[in-house]
Amino acid sequence: MGSVVESREWYLASYSPEGVPNSDNLKLRSLSLSLDSHSIPEGHVSLEIVLISVDPYLRTRLTGTLDGLYIAQYEVNEVITAFAVGKVIGSRESKYSEGDVVLVPSAPLAEYCIIPSSTIARKIHAATGISLPHYLSALGVPGFAAWVGIVVLGDPKPGSNVFISAASGAVGTIAGQLAKIRGCRVIGSTGSDQKVKLIKEEFGYDDGFNYNKESDFDAALSKYFPDGIDVYLDNVGGKMLESVLNHVNKHARISLCGMISQYNKVWTEREGVRNLLNMVGKEVRMEGFMLESYWHRFGDFAKEMEGYIKEGKVTSKNKINVGIESFLDSLASLFSSSNIGKVVVQVNEA
Ligand SMILES: NC(=O)c1ccc[n+]([C@@H]2O[C@H](COP(=O)([O-])OP(=O)(O)OC[C@H]3O[C@@H](n4cnc5c(N)ncnc54)[C@H](OP(=O)(O)O)[C@@H]3O)[C@@H](O)[C@H]2O)c1
Repeated sequence: MGSVVESREWYLASYSPEGVPNSDNLKLRSLSLSLDSHSIPEGHVSLEIVLISVDPYLRTRLTGTLDGLYIAQYEVNEVITAFAVGKVIGSRESKYSEGDVVLVPSAPLAEYCIIPSSTIARKIHAATGISLPHYLSALGVPGFAAWVGIVVLGDPKPGSNVFISAASGAVGTIAGQLAKIRGCRVIGSTGSDQKVKLIKEEFGYDDGFNYNKESDFDAALSKYFPDGIDVYLDNVGGKMLESVLNHVNKHARISLCGMISQYNKVWTEREGVRNLLNMVGKEVRMEGFMLESYWHRFGDFAKEMEGYIKEGKVTSKNKINVGIESFLDSLASLFSSSNIGKVVVQVNEA
């Protein structure tokens, strides 16, 4: 490769307070970068970005207001960043050499970039035999979120009745498997009959329902949880959360992982939850979490999860869209029912 490359990157052109972000909000631009070791600053590496993790929280960084998830907003003209796998091209840091494959929690959403080596989380060793997309799914943001939500906060016991919404998504597919490993009865909700079949056949769910068909959530939860709900991993919020509160058992735990049904609305239009009073009588613990508060547990998580993957106890499914230009459609696809598993953009060949 020549020392200077043309690299495309996604940047924020305008905020998107409501609705699904579009091409007025996010744009691609091209810039020239010198990637050779002698052209980059001390303590930096140049990277070829290989895979980018497309996660719902990115949408919440584009609204221009700091409500909801309270994650810093991108500035207009700022490059978008995301969890990514990259390959080192040039290095001015002794820990990294050309050809190393690395995991970067906040990499520029670009074809190539130059970053401080301190922003690299770890090297990925081919000898583990774990494929690269796994590092963005089971071993990445969604796997870690599933682990915090189910294992750390949900803490289900063998025989616990566990409910997971957005069950066929990146978090939901891993969360269901973690709850099954703990001996629970696990039910999921998702957006189509085909996805209900899939969570049962491929991800070990005991049963599930299509929330577009069974739109009376109270009736559906009565049917699938005759003995009540002990643990709920909430990925969607809104009416589903309200209905779950009518079915909780004493001392139930609700892990608030995310509320994707509410992300594209300004807060005054978001759905309220009217029956919080049920939490008092049932002494329910409901807790929101953000992964950044659990980074000190990432090592424990990664060790446990690598073990499950190698033993074949946890598997993940990836929807890989090719080319950096596919990022905008990939982000929008999280808000339709068009995906199964983890959405990843493949920017360059590994
Ligand atoms: N707290 C944290 O640190 C953290 C970290 C990672 C993820 N999360 C959260 O976890 C949740 C899942 O994330 P993910 O990465 O696994 O995404 P995902 O589930 O792979 O993708 C989103 C899925 O949500 C469902 N969905 C979209 N709009 C919906 C609506 N209005 N009502 C109900 N379902 C809807 C769709 O599936 P179906 O409609 O087909 O079911 C879609 O495929 C999100 O809320 C995300 O913000 C939180």
